[in-house]
This record gives sequence, structure tokens and C-alpha cells, in this order.
Amino acid sequence: MAARIAVLSRGPRLYSTRRLVEEARLRDVDVAVLDPMQFSLFVADQDIGILHGGNRFEFDAVIPRIGHSITRHGVSVLRHLEQLDVWCANSSTGILQSRDKLHSGQILARNRIPTPSTSYVRDMKDIERAIENVGGLPVVVKVTQGTQGQGVFLRHTIHETRNLVQGLLMTGKAVLIQQYIAESHGKDIRALVVGGKVVASMRRKARGREFRSNYHLNGTVEGVDLPEEYAEAACRAARVLGLNVAGVDLLEGTNGPLVLEVNSSPGLEGIEKASGVNVAGAIIDYVVSESDFSDVNVDQLLRTIPGRGVISVHMRNHPHLIGRPISDLFKGKIPVFALSRAGDLIWNPEPELQLRFRDSLICYGDLAELREKFKQNLFSLPSFTEGEKDSAEP
Ligand SMILES: Nc1ncnc2c1ncn2[C@@H]1O[C@H](COP(=O)(O)OP(=O)(O)O)[C@@H](O)[C@H]1O
Ligand SMILES: [Mg+2]
Repeated sequence: MAARIAVLSRGPRLYSTRRLVEEARLRDVDVAVLDPMQFSLFVADQDIGILHGGNRFEFDAVIPRIGHSITRHGVSVLRHLEQLDVWCANSSTGILQSRDKLHSGQILARNRIPTPSTSYVRDMKDIERAIENVGGLPVVVKVTQGTQGQGVFLRHTIHETRNLVQGLLMTGKAVLIQQYIAESHGKDIRALVVGGKVVASMRRKARGREFRSNYHLNGTVEGVDLPEEYAEAACRAARVLGLNVAGVDLLEGTNGPLVLEVNSSPGLEGIEKASGVNVAGAIIDYVVSESDFSDVNVDQLLRTIPGRGVISVHMRNHPHLIGRPISDLFKGKIPVFALSRAGDLIWNPEPELQLRFRDSLICYGDLAELREKFKQNLFSLPSFTEGEKDSAEP
């Protein structure tokens, strides 16, 4: 059965919304535009329900186009739909993470995706340090929750930077001081990622002396041949932030791409015109093909059975285990289901695999039992060198 798709959008006449509807209809897909503000959410004893404009919600898949001004409410609606096992093109978590420039920076850096150096400051005493930390003046000052270029500023002197940051802090904004990527002044690249692939890309250029290249600030757009390195960075950024449909903004640094931000409701007009690609069609094709396979909320799943869960053990805290095989840690059944090494996950590692300093073991099972196992086995082991000595001396 074809999926019934709801586009969650406040503007049925907006270009992007219209295009999605148009492409869905061309494919004979049942589609409707629903205003996210017209949902009512019900939580009852052991049950939840949802209504839209007084009607039952009868769609299999949702494409959220949640505007920045209604993020909180939109995310509440999505959470509810996720709980009802409705397939969502972007998850509530993905949207929230990507809308906070500090949070997304933390996730990108943690996953070793290149991004401009950034300081988050709340105390004016640290402002000089913050500027130093990002490589000195000039710096870009931005608010964590901004969009469409509002709340992004270039500052050349410490005095100007201080005044601006102080003003923003006083109005209750969270402020970032960011390395200014001079090579990329006034231009950036937008890559549209759908289901782990870049389907279209464009270069955006600012007009005149403006350094922000946002389309909404009257910037111009043109087609671009996206180098593989850029496409890869864009796909990884979308993935680690948990977005299936994303507009990834990349700056062109001297050492390659830098991911600036990831948008969960990317505008389709500029990119379709600049690239000539039917992006809306690609999104609909993706939703239709994927919506049979629901995303699993792993976090929730792993907590379903009381007492069971996941723990990870960092080898750096157990130096005497380094160099030993995993099997040395456990007698009998080995509950390790993954090993995190150098940013990669090794699923179901071989028991013979030797542990390294930066490894973390990830185990699933009865938490009390796991903790006990670790205590018994980890701490009773003689250290590796002692063990060697023992066997060397008869
Ligand atoms: N660190 C930076 N170095 C150079 N240019 C930047 C930097 N940060 C932002 N810009 C320019 O400003 C624009 C808007 O910044 P961005 O962080 O994407 O905010 P918004 O969410 O408001 O679009 C970018 O598209 C880019 O052209
Ligand atoms: Mg941007």
C-alpha cells in the first residue's frame, strides 16, 4: 500500500511545501499539508492520542517543515508521532540538535567532522581567551539559535567584539565566538542530503560587502560541482546529527570543507533553481521507499526491560587490561556487543581482539550483573606485566 504522507508546514503556499505536494501527487501518493499548530496531543493512563483540527491522524509518514519560531511546539508534536510509530523524515532529536549551533558543533567535533573553532562565553572576563581560542581577530559572533543570517556578525576589534557580546548576553541570548574563515568570505556551499546521499548542491554568494551568503539576505545562487570530500562531510554531518533530509552548509577552508551548520527544513527553491535537480521528487521517493522501515528509538528500546541496559567501560581507566584479549575479562559468555575504537564501532568483536588504551567496551545486559562481572573480573586480574613475569619465572 502506498504511504499516506503528511507535510507538517504552516505555509501550504510556500515554494518548498507546494513542491513536495506536487511531487507526491505525481506519484499518486495520498498527501496533505497539516499545520503543526493545529495538533492536540493527549496523554492518558498508559496511552497517548493525537488529533489534527478535530480529526483523527491517519498518515503513515510525516515530512516535518517546522519553522524556527515554532520549534518547541513542532518538536512536541513530532515526539508524539514518534511514540505512535509514525515514520518521520527527520526526528525530533535531530531537529533540536541541529537548531542549536553549540550543540551541533559539539556533536560534529565529537565525530571528528571539521567545523570552525568555536567558543561559548557567558562571562566577559573570558572574552579575550575566547577570541584567542578561535585563532584571534577578526571573529564571527553568533547567537546559538539564529537563522537566515540574523544573529551572525563579523567583528574586527576586541572593543567591538566585547560590546556586541555584552549586548547579546544582556538580552538573554547564548553567544558563540567563532573562527572567521576568511577564505570563504561571502560564499559557502549548500549540499542537500536525502537519505545519506547528496542529491543537489549549490554555491551561495553574498552581495556587495556582506559576508553572510544566506539566500534570504539577497544572496545569489549558482550550480557547483561538489568535490567528493565535500559530499562526504555533508553526509556524515547529517548522519551524526540524526537527519535524513538536511541542507548542510559548508565553508571552503584552505584545508578542505568545514561544516558550518545543518538545516532540518532546507528551502528548496534556491537549490532546485541553481542545480536543476528535482529535490522535492527525491525527498518524496525517499519517504515512499523508507517509510515501511521505521526508525527505532534505540535509547528507549534499550530501557524497555527493567534492570537491563547498556554500559560502557573505558580502558583508559583500567590500564592493566591493555594488551589483553577481550576474553580475558569475562569467564564464560562474553556480554560485549561493540567496541569503540578510534571513532569507529566494531560490532560483536572477536574474543581474541586485544584491548587498547583508547578503547571502550559497550555491553548490553542485566546492569547489576554486568557491574558485578566487571568488578570480579576486572579487578582480580593480575597486571599484564606481572602476568608475564609469573609465566617467565618457573
Ligand atoms: N565562521 C565563519 N566564517 C566565515 N563566514 C561565516 C562564518 N560563520 C558564518 N558565516 C557566513 O554567514 C552565513 C550565516 O551563518 P550561519 O552560521 O549559517 O547562520 P544562519 O543559521 O543564520 O544561516 C553563512 O552562510 C556564511 O556565509
Ligand atoms: Mg546558515
